[in-house]
Amino acid sequence: MSAPSDTQRMEKIVSLCKRRGFIFQSSEIYGGLNGAWDYGPLGVELKRNLKNYWWRVMVHERDDVVGMDGAILTHPDVLKASGHVEGFTDPMIDCRTCKAHLRADQLVEKKGVKQCPNCGGKDLTVPRQFNLMFETHVGAATDESSIAYLRPETAQSIFVQFKNILEVSRKKLPFGIAQIGKAFRNEINPRNFTFRSREFEQMELEYFCRPEQGMELLEYWKEERLKFYENIGIPRSKLHALTVPDEERAFYSKGTYDIEYDFPFGWQELEGIAYRTDYDLLQHQKAGGKSLEYFDEETKQRFVPHVVEPSAGVDRTVLALICEAYSEDQAPDEKGKMETRVVLRFHPRVAPIKCGVFPLLKNNPQLVGKAKEVVGLLRPHMTLFYDASGAIGRRYRRQDEIGTPFGITVDFETLGEKDPALRDTVTLRDRDSMKQERVAIQDLPAILRERLA
Ligand code: GAP
Repeated sequence: MSAPSDTQRMEKIVSLCKRRGFIFQSSEIYGGLNGAWDYGPLGVELKRNLKNYWWRVMVHERDDVVGMDGAILTHPDVLKASGHVEGFTDPMIDCRTCKAHLRADQLVEKKGVKQCPNCGGKDLTVPRQFNLMFETHVGAATDESSIAYLRPETAQSIFVQFKNILEVSRKKLPFGIAQIGKAFRNEINPRNFTFRSREFEQMELEYFCRPEQGMELLEYWKEERLKFYENIGIPRSKLHALTVPDEERAFYSKGTYDIEYDFPFGWQELEGIAYRTDYDLLQHQKAGGKSLEYFDEETKQRFVPHVVEPSAGVDRTVLALICEAYSEDQAPDEKGKMETRVVLRFHPRVAPIKCGVFPLLKNNPQLVGKAKEVVGLLRPHMTLFYDASGAIGRRYRRQDEIGTPFGITVDFETLGEKDPALRDTVTLRDRDSMKQERVAIQDLPAILRERLA
Protein backbone atom coordinates (compact mmCIF):
# COMPACT_ATOMS: atom_id res chain seq x y z
CA MET A 1 0.00 0.00 0.00
CA SER A 2 1.47 3.40 -0.85
CA ALA A 3 0.89 6.81 0.72
CA PRO A 4 2.11 10.27 -0.20
CA SER A 5 5.70 10.66 0.94
CA ASP A 6 6.73 13.50 3.20
CA THR A 7 10.21 14.32 1.94
CA GLN A 8 10.71 17.41 4.07
CA ARG A 9 9.86 15.61 7.30
CA MET A 10 12.24 12.78 6.37
CA GLU A 11 15.05 15.26 5.63
CA LYS A 12 14.58 16.84 9.06
CA ILE A 13 14.70 13.41 10.70
CA VAL A 14 17.89 12.36 8.88
CA SER A 15 19.54 15.65 9.80
CA LEU A 16 18.51 15.38 13.47
CA CYS A 17 19.84 11.80 13.58
CA LYS A 18 23.24 13.00 12.47
CA ARG A 19 23.30 16.25 14.48
CA ARG A 20 22.42 14.59 17.77
CA GLY A 21 24.30 11.33 17.35
CA PHE A 22 21.66 8.73 16.55
CA ILE A 23 22.83 7.50 13.14
CA PHE A 24 25.84 8.33 10.94
CA GLN A 25 26.73 7.14 7.49
CA SER A 26 29.30 4.36 7.73
CA SER A 27 32.88 5.27 6.66
CA GLU A 28 31.66 8.85 6.27
CA ILE A 29 35.09 10.54 6.23
CA TYR A 30 36.04 8.30 3.28
CA GLY A 31 32.96 9.26 1.30
CA GLY A 32 30.61 6.70 2.87
CA LEU A 33 29.80 3.04 2.25
CA ASN A 34 26.42 2.75 0.61
CA GLY A 35 23.90 0.66 2.56
CA ALA A 36 25.85 0.63 5.83
CA TRP A 37 25.17 2.80 8.89
CA ASP A 38 26.85 3.43 12.23
CA TYR A 39 24.78 4.12 15.33
CA GLY A 40 26.11 6.89 17.57
CA PRO A 41 25.83 7.27 21.36
CA LEU A 42 22.05 7.86 21.36
CA GLY A 43 21.24 5.48 18.51
CA VAL A 44 22.96 2.58 20.20
CA GLU A 45 20.95 3.15 23.41
CA LEU A 46 17.67 3.34 21.49
CA LYS A 47 18.51 0.18 19.57
CA ARG A 48 19.55 -1.66 22.72
CA ASN A 49 16.34 -0.64 24.51
CA LEU A 50 14.32 -2.00 21.59
CA LYS A 51 16.21 -5.29 21.46
CA ASN A 52 16.08 -5.71 25.25
CA TYR A 53 12.34 -5.11 25.29
CA TRP A 54 11.81 -7.60 22.42
CA TRP A 55 13.91 -10.18 24.28
CA ARG A 56 12.00 -9.51 27.53
CA VAL A 57 8.59 -9.95 25.90
CA MET A 58 9.47 -12.77 23.50
CA VAL A 59 11.82 -14.83 25.71
CA HIS A 60 12.02 -13.89 29.39
CA GLU A 61 8.31 -13.39 30.01
CA ARG A 62 7.37 -16.70 28.33
CA ASP A 63 7.78 -20.33 29.37
CA ASP A 64 7.64 -21.58 25.81
CA VAL A 65 10.54 -19.69 24.19
CA VAL A 66 14.31 -20.03 24.57
CA GLY A 67 17.05 -17.99 22.93
CA MET A 68 20.16 -18.64 20.88
CA ASP A 69 22.95 -16.65 19.25
CA GLY A 70 24.23 -18.25 16.06
CA ALA A 71 27.29 -17.59 13.88
CA ILE A 72 27.13 -15.09 11.04
CA LEU A 73 29.46 -17.16 8.82
CA THR A 74 27.33 -19.88 7.29
CA HIS A 75 28.24 -23.19 5.65
CA PRO A 76 27.18 -23.13 1.98
CA ASP A 77 25.27 -26.41 2.37
CA VAL A 78 22.91 -24.75 4.87
CA LEU A 79 22.02 -22.07 2.36
CA LYS A 80 21.82 -24.54 -0.51
CA ALA A 81 19.30 -26.58 1.47
CA SER A 82 17.29 -23.50 2.44
CA GLY A 83 17.08 -22.41 -1.21
CA HIS A 84 19.09 -19.19 -0.78
CA VAL A 85 22.03 -20.15 -3.05
CA GLU A 86 19.66 -20.94 -5.89
CA GLY A 87 16.84 -18.55 -5.33
CA PHE A 88 17.62 -15.60 -3.02
CA THR A 89 17.66 -13.17 -5.90
CA ASP A 90 16.13 -9.92 -7.10
CA PRO A 91 15.59 -9.15 -10.79
CA MET A 92 18.13 -6.50 -11.79
CA ILE A 93 18.02 -4.15 -14.76
CA ASP A 94 20.76 -1.74 -15.89
CA CYS A 95 20.08 1.69 -17.36
CA ARG A 96 22.43 2.03 -20.33
CA THR A 97 22.13 5.83 -20.22
CA CYS A 98 23.19 6.59 -16.62
CA LYS A 99 24.65 3.12 -15.84
CA ALA A 100 22.45 2.71 -12.75
CA HIS A 101 21.71 -0.82 -11.48
CA LEU A 102 18.02 -1.01 -10.67
CA ARG A 103 15.63 -3.46 -9.11
CA ALA A 104 12.97 -4.25 -11.71
CA ASP A 105 10.18 -2.96 -9.44
CA GLN A 106 11.87 0.45 -9.19
CA LEU A 107 11.33 1.39 -12.83
CA VAL A 108 8.78 4.10 -13.49
CA GLU A 109 6.23 3.71 -16.23
CA LYS A 110 5.17 6.69 -18.36
CA LYS A 111 2.59 6.23 -21.13
CA GLY A 112 3.16 2.49 -20.96
CA VAL A 113 6.95 2.79 -21.39
CA LYS A 114 9.33 1.72 -18.61
CA GLN A 115 11.95 4.30 -17.68
CA CYS A 116 14.93 4.71 -15.37
CA PRO A 117 13.78 6.52 -12.19
CA ASN A 118 17.12 8.42 -12.04
CA CYS A 119 17.57 9.83 -15.54
CA GLY A 120 14.35 8.93 -17.37
CA GLY A 121 16.39 6.79 -19.80
CA LYS A 122 14.49 4.16 -21.77
CA ASP A 123 17.50 2.15 -22.93
CA LEU A 124 17.30 -0.64 -20.35
CA THR A 125 18.74 -4.16 -20.24
CA VAL A 126 16.49 -7.19 -19.83
CA PRO A 127 16.08 -8.28 -16.18
CA ARG A 128 18.61 -10.80 -14.86
CA GLN A 129 18.63 -12.54 -11.48
CA PHE A 130 21.05 -11.06 -8.97
CA ASN A 131 21.86 -13.11 -5.83
CA LEU A 132 21.70 -10.93 -2.71
CA MET A 133 24.04 -12.99 -0.56
CA PHE A 134 27.54 -11.82 0.37
CA GLU A 135 30.05 -14.54 -0.39
CA THR A 136 33.36 -14.85 1.44
CA HIS A 137 36.16 -17.40 1.89
CA VAL A 138 37.00 -19.16 5.10
CA GLY A 139 40.67 -20.02 5.65
CA ALA A 140 43.70 -19.40 3.47
CA ALA A 141 42.43 -20.93 0.23
CA THR A 142 40.18 -18.83 -1.97
CA ASP A 143 38.68 -21.54 -4.18
CA GLU A 144 35.26 -23.21 -4.44
CA SER A 145 35.96 -25.36 -1.37
CA SER A 146 36.38 -22.39 0.99
CA ILE A 147 33.21 -20.47 0.11
CA ALA A 148 31.02 -19.39 3.01
CA TYR A 149 28.25 -16.79 3.21
CA LEU A 150 27.36 -13.99 5.57
CA ARG A 151 23.91 -15.06 6.69
CA PRO A 152 21.05 -13.35 4.84
CA GLU A 153 18.65 -14.04 7.78
CA THR A 154 19.14 -15.30 11.33
CA ALA A 155 16.47 -17.98 10.86
CA GLN A 156 18.59 -20.70 9.26
CA SER A 157 20.86 -21.24 12.28
CA ILE A 158 17.70 -21.75 14.36
CA PHE A 159 16.49 -24.51 12.02
CA VAL A 160 19.93 -26.11 11.91
CA GLN A 161 20.18 -26.12 15.74
CA PHE A 162 16.55 -27.19 16.25
CA LYS A 163 17.39 -30.72 17.41
CA ASN A 164 20.18 -29.66 19.79
CA ILE A 165 18.00 -27.01 21.39
CA LEU A 166 15.01 -29.32 21.65
CA GLU A 167 17.16 -31.82 23.52
CA VAL A 168 18.84 -29.39 25.91
CA SER A 169 15.76 -27.30 26.67
CA ARG A 170 13.37 -30.31 26.99
CA LYS A 171 10.54 -28.16 25.61
CA LYS A 172 7.29 -29.62 24.33
CA LEU A 173 5.44 -28.36 21.27
CA PRO A 174 4.47 -25.65 20.74
CA PHE A 175 7.69 -23.86 21.64
CA GLY A 176 9.94 -21.26 20.07
CA ILE A 177 13.58 -20.36 19.55
CA ALA A 178 14.41 -16.64 19.40
CA GLN A 179 17.43 -14.87 18.02
CA ILE A 180 18.57 -11.29 17.52
CA GLY A 181 21.50 -10.65 15.24
CA LYS A 182 23.06 -9.25 12.11
CA ALA A 183 22.00 -10.25 8.61
CA PHE A 184 23.51 -9.17 5.31
CA ARG A 185 21.96 -8.65 1.88
CA ASN A 186 23.68 -7.09 -1.09
CA GLU A 187 20.62 -4.97 -1.91
CA ILE A 188 20.70 -3.60 -5.45
CA ASN A 189 19.51 -0.18 -4.28
CA PRO A 190 19.80 0.59 -0.57
CA ARG A 191 17.46 3.51 0.14
CA ASN A 192 15.20 5.46 2.46
CA PHE A 193 17.94 6.07 5.04
CA THR A 194 18.39 2.86 7.09
CA PHE A 195 15.18 1.27 5.78
CA ARG A 196 16.84 -0.85 3.11
CA SER A 197 20.44 -1.51 4.16
CA ARG A 198 23.04 -4.08 3.20
CA GLU A 199 23.91 -4.84 6.82
CA PHE A 200 21.08 -4.87 9.34
CA GLU A 201 19.76 -6.67 12.39
CA GLN A 202 16.78 -8.97 12.72
CA MET A 203 14.75 -10.12 15.72
CA GLU A 204 13.37 -13.52 14.72
CA LEU A 205 11.30 -16.16 16.44
CA GLU A 206 10.78 -19.62 15.00
CA TYR A 207 7.74 -20.99 16.81
CA PHE A 208 7.48 -24.76 16.27
CA CYS A 209 4.09 -26.43 16.44
CA ARG A 210 1.90 -29.31 15.32
CA PRO A 211 0.63 -29.03 11.73
CA GLU A 212 -2.95 -28.45 12.85
CA GLN A 213 -1.90 -25.45 15.03
CA GLY A 214 -0.19 -23.47 12.25
CA MET A 215 -3.01 -21.25 10.99
CA GLU A 216 -4.29 -20.44 14.48
CA LEU A 217 -0.78 -19.54 15.66
CA LEU A 218 -0.29 -17.29 12.65
CA GLU A 219 -3.27 -15.21 13.88
CA TYR A 220 -2.02 -15.36 17.47
CA TRP A 221 1.43 -14.04 16.56
CA LYS A 222 0.00 -11.31 14.36
CA GLU A 223 -1.93 -9.93 17.35
CA GLU A 224 1.01 -10.34 19.75
CA ARG A 225 3.31 -8.49 17.41
CA LEU A 226 0.87 -5.64 16.82
CA LYS A 227 0.59 -5.29 20.62
CA PHE A 228 4.39 -5.16 20.84
CA TYR A 229 4.57 -2.16 18.53
CA GLU A 230 1.84 -0.38 20.49
CA ASN A 231 3.78 -1.01 23.70
CA ILE A 232 6.83 0.79 22.34
CA GLY A 233 4.82 3.82 21.26
CA ILE A 234 3.67 3.08 17.71
CA PRO A 235 -0.11 3.50 17.62
CA ARG A 236 -2.33 0.92 15.91
CA SER A 237 -3.62 3.64 13.55
CA LYS A 238 -0.11 3.87 12.01
CA LEU A 239 0.21 0.08 11.58
CA HIS A 240 -1.54 -2.49 9.53
CA ALA A 241 -1.21 -6.18 8.92
CA LEU A 242 -1.32 -6.78 5.20
CA THR A 243 -2.36 -10.25 4.08
CA VAL A 244 0.25 -11.25 1.50
CA PRO A 245 -1.66 -12.57 -1.53
CA ASP A 246 -1.19 -16.21 -2.62
CA GLU A 247 0.81 -15.30 -5.71
CA GLU A 248 3.33 -13.19 -3.73
CA ARG A 249 3.86 -15.68 -0.88
CA ALA A 250 6.78 -18.13 -0.77
CA PHE A 251 5.49 -21.39 -2.30
CA TYR A 252 5.88 -23.27 1.00
CA SER A 253 4.03 -20.70 3.12
CA LYS A 254 0.37 -21.28 3.95
CA GLY A 255 -0.17 -17.73 5.14
CA THR A 256 1.88 -14.55 5.58
CA TYR A 257 1.21 -11.12 7.05
CA ASP A 258 3.39 -8.09 6.55
CA ILE A 259 3.16 -5.61 9.39
CA GLU A 260 3.54 -2.22 7.76
CA TYR A 261 4.18 1.21 9.28
CA ASP A 262 3.18 4.55 7.84
CA PHE A 263 6.70 5.97 7.28
CA PRO A 264 7.08 9.53 5.89
CA PHE A 265 8.04 7.78 2.59
CA GLY A 266 4.88 5.64 2.57
CA TRP A 267 3.52 2.40 4.07
CA GLN A 268 6.43 -0.05 4.30
CA GLU A 269 7.18 -3.40 5.92
CA LEU A 270 8.47 -3.58 9.48
CA GLU A 271 8.01 -7.28 10.03
CA GLY A 272 6.89 -10.41 8.23
CA ILE A 273 4.89 -13.12 10.01
CA ALA A 274 4.90 -16.32 8.00
CA TYR A 275 3.48 -19.79 8.51
CA ARG A 276 6.39 -21.65 6.85
CA THR A 277 4.92 -25.16 7.35
CA ASP A 278 7.57 -27.91 7.77
CA TYR A 279 9.53 -26.71 4.73
CA ASP A 280 12.76 -25.59 6.44
CA LEU A 281 13.18 -28.54 8.78
CA LEU A 282 12.37 -30.99 5.98
CA GLN A 283 14.95 -29.37 3.70
CA HIS A 284 17.68 -29.58 6.36
CA GLN A 285 16.67 -33.11 7.31
CA LYS A 286 16.98 -34.18 3.68
CA ALA A 287 20.27 -32.35 3.02
CA GLY A 288 21.91 -32.95 6.41
CA GLY A 289 20.85 -36.59 6.61
CA LYS A 290 19.86 -36.37 10.30
CA SER A 291 16.37 -36.76 11.67
CA LEU A 292 14.77 -33.47 12.75
CA GLU A 293 11.61 -35.20 13.92
CA TYR A 294 9.82 -34.54 17.16
CA PHE A 295 8.55 -37.45 19.22
CA ASP A 296 5.20 -36.83 20.88
CA GLU A 297 5.20 -38.91 24.06
CA GLU A 298 1.42 -38.72 24.49
CA THR A 299 0.41 -39.87 21.02
CA LYS A 300 3.64 -41.82 20.37
CA GLN A 301 3.82 -40.07 16.97
CA ARG A 302 6.98 -38.92 15.25
CA PHE A 303 6.77 -35.96 12.88
CA VAL A 304 8.64 -32.92 11.59
CA PRO A 305 7.19 -29.84 13.32
CA HIS A 306 5.69 -26.92 11.43
CA VAL A 307 6.79 -23.36 12.17
CA VAL A 308 5.30 -19.87 12.43
CA GLU A 309 7.90 -17.12 12.11
CA PRO A 310 7.54 -13.50 13.28
CA SER A 311 10.61 -11.82 11.76
CA ALA A 312 11.19 -8.16 12.59
CA GLY A 313 13.87 -5.71 11.52
CA VAL A 314 15.72 -3.90 14.31
CA ASP A 315 16.88 -1.02 12.12
CA ARG A 316 13.49 -0.55 10.50
CA THR A 317 11.81 -0.49 13.92
CA VAL A 318 14.38 2.03 15.22
CA LEU A 319 13.62 4.18 12.18
CA ALA A 320 9.87 3.85 12.78
CA LEU A 321 10.37 4.83 16.44
CA ILE A 322 12.28 7.96 15.42
CA CYS A 323 9.76 8.87 12.68
CA GLU A 324 6.85 8.36 15.08
CA ALA A 325 8.53 10.34 17.87
CA TYR A 326 9.56 13.34 15.75
CA SER A 327 7.37 16.34 16.36
CA GLU A 328 7.48 20.10 16.39
CA ASP A 329 5.39 22.28 18.68
CA GLN A 330 5.43 25.78 20.12
CA ALA A 331 7.00 26.52 23.48
CA PRO A 332 8.07 29.75 25.21
CA ASP A 333 11.79 30.72 25.25
CA GLU A 334 13.51 32.33 28.27
CA LYS A 335 11.80 35.66 27.56
CA GLY A 336 8.37 34.09 27.15
CA LYS A 337 8.40 34.43 23.34
CA MET A 338 6.96 31.40 21.55
CA GLU A 339 9.44 29.41 19.47
CA THR A 340 9.38 26.12 17.59
CA ARG A 341 10.40 23.22 19.79
CA VAL A 342 11.68 20.00 18.20
CA VAL A 343 10.81 17.08 20.42
CA LEU A 344 11.22 13.33 20.06
CA ARG A 345 8.24 11.90 21.91
CA PHE A 346 9.74 8.45 22.54
CA HIS A 347 7.88 6.08 24.81
CA PRO A 348 9.90 6.27 28.08
CA ARG A 349 10.55 2.50 27.70
CA VAL A 350 12.74 3.03 24.62
CA ALA A 351 14.07 6.58 25.18
CA PRO A 352 17.90 6.54 25.03
CA ILE A 353 18.33 8.84 28.03
CA LYS A 354 15.63 8.56 30.68
CA CYS A 355 16.31 11.66 32.72
CA GLY A 356 18.26 14.93 32.56
CA VAL A 357 19.68 16.32 35.82
CA PHE A 358 20.33 20.06 36.05
CA PRO A 359 21.72 22.25 38.84
CA LEU A 360 20.06 25.63 38.35
CA LEU A 361 23.49 27.39 38.41
CA LYS A 362 26.76 25.69 37.51
CA ASN A 363 28.91 27.94 39.71
CA ASN A 364 27.02 27.29 42.94
CA PRO A 365 28.81 24.40 44.75
CA GLN A 366 25.76 23.55 46.87
CA LEU A 367 23.45 23.23 43.85
CA VAL A 368 26.07 21.25 41.93
CA GLY A 369 26.70 18.98 44.95
CA LYS A 370 22.99 18.20 45.34
CA ALA A 371 22.60 17.55 41.61
CA LYS A 372 25.53 15.11 41.71
CA GLU A 373 23.86 13.40 44.69
CA VAL A 374 20.71 12.95 42.58
CA VAL A 375 22.83 11.49 39.76
CA GLY A 376 24.40 9.02 42.21
CA LEU A 377 20.96 8.00 43.50
CA LEU A 378 19.46 7.39 40.06
CA ARG A 379 22.46 6.08 38.08
CA PRO A 380 21.97 2.42 39.13
CA HIS A 381 18.40 2.50 37.78
CA MET A 382 18.55 4.37 34.46
CA THR A 383 20.54 6.28 31.85
CA LEU A 384 21.04 9.92 32.85
CA PHE A 385 22.46 13.09 31.39
CA TYR A 386 23.98 15.66 33.72
CA ASP A 387 24.00 19.13 32.22
CA ALA A 388 25.08 22.28 34.04
CA SER A 389 25.78 24.61 31.12
CA GLY A 390 23.56 27.31 29.64
CA ALA A 391 20.16 28.69 30.57
CA ILE A 392 17.81 26.12 32.03
CA GLY A 393 15.32 26.54 29.15
CA ARG A 394 18.11 25.71 26.65
CA ARG A 395 19.03 22.64 28.65
CA TYR A 396 15.41 21.45 28.58
CA ARG A 397 15.29 21.98 24.80
CA ARG A 398 18.46 19.96 24.27
CA GLN A 399 16.90 17.03 26.12
CA ASP A 400 13.51 17.44 24.37
CA GLU A 401 15.28 17.14 21.03
CA ILE A 402 16.76 13.75 21.93
CA GLY A 403 13.55 12.50 23.54
CA THR A 404 14.52 12.45 27.24
CA PRO A 405 11.15 12.00 28.99
CA PHE A 406 12.06 13.56 32.36
CA GLY A 407 14.13 16.46 33.65
CA ILE A 408 15.13 17.14 37.25
CA THR A 409 16.18 20.59 38.36
CA VAL A 410 17.97 21.30 41.61
CA ASP A 411 17.16 24.87 42.65
CA PHE A 412 17.37 27.10 45.70
CA GLU A 413 14.25 25.51 47.19
CA THR A 414 16.15 22.19 47.16
CA LEU A 415 18.62 23.84 49.55
CA GLY A 416 15.73 24.89 51.82
CA GLU A 417 16.57 28.56 51.35
CA LYS A 418 13.02 29.76 50.72
CA ASP A 419 11.00 27.25 52.71
CA PRO A 420 12.63 24.64 54.98
CA ALA A 421 9.71 22.29 54.18
CA LEU A 422 10.98 22.12 50.57
CA ARG A 423 14.54 21.13 51.51
CA ASP A 424 15.68 18.10 49.50
CA THR A 425 12.90 18.40 46.97
CA VAL A 426 13.44 19.02 43.23
CA THR A 427 11.30 19.84 40.22
CA LEU A 428 10.44 16.93 37.95
CA ARG A 429 9.58 18.06 34.42
CA ASP A 430 7.59 16.05 31.92
CA ARG A 431 8.90 16.36 28.33
CA ASP A 432 5.53 16.23 26.58
CA SER A 433 3.33 18.43 28.80
CA MET A 434 6.32 20.54 29.99
CA LYS A 435 4.56 20.53 33.41
CA GLN A 436 6.70 20.48 36.52
CA GLU A 437 5.94 18.92 39.89
CA ARG A 438 7.86 19.17 43.15
CA VAL A 439 9.00 15.83 44.52
CA ALA A 440 11.26 14.64 47.34
CA ILE A 441 14.68 13.45 46.16
CA GLN A 442 14.26 10.19 48.08
CA ASP A 443 11.05 9.41 46.15
CA LEU A 444 12.66 9.86 42.72
CA PRO A 445 13.82 6.25 42.11
CA ALA A 446 10.36 4.79 42.80
CA ILE A 447 8.45 7.48 40.84
CA LEU A 448 10.71 7.24 37.81
CA ARG A 449 10.95 3.44 37.82
CA GLU A 450 7.16 3.25 37.72
CA ARG A 451 6.94 5.71 34.82
CA LEU A 452 9.67 3.93 32.86
CA ALA A 453 8.42 0.35 33.31
N1 GAP B 1 13.47 -15.09 8.04
C1 GAP B 1 12.52 -14.36 7.30
C2 GAP B 1 13.03 -13.13 6.72
O1 GAP B 1 14.22 -12.84 6.76
P1 GAP B 1 12.27 -10.98 5.46
O2 GAP B 1 10.89 -10.45 5.23
O3 GAP B 1 13.17 -11.13 4.29
O4 GAP B 1 12.06 -12.38 6.19
C3 GAP B 1 12.43 -9.89 7.80
O5 GAP B 1 13.00 -10.09 6.54
C4 GAP B 1 12.60 -8.47 8.25
O6 GAP B 1 13.98 -8.09 8.18
C5 GAP B 1 11.89 -7.45 7.36
O7 GAP B 1 10.52 -7.32 7.69
C6 GAP B 1 12.67 -6.19 7.67
O8 GAP B 1 12.22 -5.58 8.86
C7 GAP B 1 14.09 -6.71 7.89
N2 GAP B 1 14.86 -6.51 6.65
C8 GAP B 1 14.89 -7.30 5.56
N3 GAP B 1 15.70 -6.79 4.62
C9 GAP B 1 16.19 -5.63 5.12
C10 GAP B 1 17.10 -4.64 4.63
N4 GAP B 1 17.68 -4.74 3.45
N5 GAP B 1 17.36 -3.57 5.42
C11 GAP B 1 16.81 -3.46 6.65
N6 GAP B 1 15.97 -4.38 7.16
C12 GAP B 1 15.66 -5.45 6.42
